Parts: sequence; C-alpha cells; structure tokens
Amino acid sequence: MSSLFARPVSRLERKQGMSSKRIAVACDHAGFPLKAKLLPLLRAEGWEVLDLGTGSAESVDYPDFGYAVAAAIADGTAARGLVICGTGIGISIAANRHPAVRAAVCMDPVAAKLARQHNDANVLALGARLIGEVMAEETVRAFLATAFEGGRHARRVDKLSRPHLESVS
Ligand code: RB5
Repeated sequence: MSSLFARPVSRLERKQGMSSKRIAVACDHAGFPLKAKLLPLLRAEGWEVLDLGTGSAESVDYPDFGYAVAAAIADGTAARGLVICGTGIGISIAANRHPAVRAAVCMDPVAAKLARQHNDANVLALGARLIGEVMAEETVRAFLATAFEGGRHARRVDKLSRPHLESVS
C-alpha cells in the first residue's frame, strides 16, 4: 500500500537522520477530506509528508492505516505521525498497538501541547467528524511546534515503550 503513495526510504537515509522532519500521514474514508486540507499546512511547516493513504472517500478499514503509520514510526522512516478517522479513536487504538507509538487523540491545541510536553506523543490523532478545520490546523501546529519536556516525564514515557502487563493490576 505504501508504495502507491510514497517512495521507500533507504537505510542510509534513516541512518543519516533524514527522517527527522518527515511525518507519516494516514486516514480512513472519514478522515480523507480533513487530511487533504491539512497536507499543505504540514508542508508549509517544513515537514516532508509521507502519505500512506487512503486516497479517496471510498470506505476502508481504519486499522490498516493506523498500522501503516505505526510501521513508519517503528522503523524510523518517519519521526512523527498524523492519523485521522471519524473520531480519531479507532485509528489511534490501531497505531498504539505498536510499543514505539504514542498516539494521542487531541481535540484542541492545549491537549496537543501537553501530549508533546508530558507524553512525548509521536502521533497525533484527529477526529474529522468532531473537530473543525481551524481547530484541527491549530492542533496540528501545536503538535509540531512543541518539544518534549523530559525530566520526570522521561521515566514515565520510557515505561510506555516497555509495557509489562504483569505489573498492571
Ligand atoms: C468510520 O465510519 C468510523 O467508524 C471511523 O472513521 C472511526 O471513527 C472509528 O473509530
């Protein structure tokens, strides 16, 4: 699927850190119109966009697209991700099934800022049926512009990448 939308990234490029301003973007049919509106913003903010689909409003299954972005994050092809479905929920659940992914559904820029500062969220999930276009744009801007605070948050975020189910009670 990804070959339809973007060229593959070489091992050398990944080693050279060329993915640091590359964002993998994917959506289902419900998210397609909002994705089309947000792509120019991502590029204007200086990000190389890896569009992993879907490419139309024809009905598809959001897990396929959440997994595609998760794979791009996990193998270092992209530093960040943007996933969009009707609510942002289904596609974020899919992306979050990979331990390298910290996807946050955000409805506004404050949530996006905190998701970056405290959770080092590397994937932003938007609900196209729930968020207006202007709010979505501001939420994306906050997600892209905000750095992880580290400090006390680093230990907690590190635990997210090494889930130990036996410790969940
Ligand atoms: C598709 O109709 C819808 O279920 C999907 O976009 C998403 O909202 C699921 O979480």
